[in-house]
Amino acid sequence: MRRLMLWSAQNKWLAAHVPRWAFARRAVRRFMPGEDLDSALRAAVEFKAMGIGAVFTLLGENVTDLDQASTEVDQYERVLAESADLHAEISVKPTHLGLDVDPEAANANMLRLAKAAAKAKSFLWIDMEGSAYTESTIGLYNRVHAHHPNTGICLQAYLHRTAADVASLLPHKPAIRLVKGAYSEPPEIAFQAKRDIDANYLALCALAMPAVKRHDVRLVLATHDVDVIDRVWRFGAALGMDRTEIEINMLYGIRTDEQLRLKRDGYVVKGLIAYGDAWYAWYLRRLAERPANVIFALRQLLP
Ligand code: FDA
Repeated sequence: MRRLMLWSAQNKWLAAHVPRWAFARRAVRRFMPGEDLDSALRAAVEFKAMGIGAVFTLLGENVTDLDQASTEVDQYERVLAESADLHAEISVKPTHLGLDVDPEAANANMLRLAKAAAKAKSFLWIDMEGSAYTESTIGLYNRVHAHHPNTGICLQAYLHRTAADVASLLPHKPAIRLVKGAYSEPPEIAFQAKRDIDANYLALCALAMPAVKRHDVRLVLATHDVDVIDRVWRFGAALGMDRTEIEINMLYGIRTDEQLRLKRDGYVVKGLIAYGDAWYAWYLRRLAERPANVIFALRQLLP
């Protein structure tokens, strides 16, 4: 099921047709409050009332012309302006800013955005896409972070290389959002079994935690896996850390009850709110994560 969903995420015919189907539009609402920025802002206001922060992401990836990439930067600048009271952060895919077309232009776009985020006292996260982009995304992050400390990078625990990437980033006082990984990657470069991915996730946290305790590194646990979060917390407790020093990010609409419970337990919790009409590939990755979501989507076919 996971492979089928991830294959479908790349299929051009499905990408062109599925977003027009009413049942798919109904199903996607489970993971995003709406396609427009106002819906995303309203969701963030509701989060704020519950003590949960917001990270906005404008959906889209693999843009094929630089005018489009520049328009996306304008859109993010609008998000920063309109969410100023919410102390929200933003999260961006490098290929949404033109990495496929021209890496230098993508770099300039990311720098422009990091500068705008700094001016708005916000924070810019760089998403991690498929493994074809890992090296270039880390290079992009290093260049942007050298000028703008208010930037972070997402790293994926399923990749074998990530321990080396964390080790090379640590001396530069990075911000790392650690995820398990959402793409289809071969066994030569990525752990396949949940058990192995979870073990690597914990090993990576153990590697970074002493620097987190010294406030040299900002580490965000971007996972819905509350068992993993609990085990990472035990590393923190052993180092004498407080729960308020541990940051957790989850996606809008997933395990909201746990987001609230973790907040009550003292963790810093933020929800990633996606919006925009380019939701197809992103939504298919959400379906791949949990087969029960496919059944939910199919149920939307019923009147
Ligand atoms: P796992 O898949 O083991 O799930 C643990 C439990 O969480 C499941 O048993 C289920 O109960 C629940 N759950 C997980 N996914 C669910 C879903 N879709 N629907 C309903 N319940 C679900 N990936 C990437 O490659 N690059 C990136 O930049 C990002 N960015 C990112 C930001 C944030 C804030 C989050 C939370 C996640 C990402 N991801 C990502 C996605 C990530 O790699 C991963 O695919 C998902 O988080 C699912 O894995 P979990 O860590 O939740 O664990």
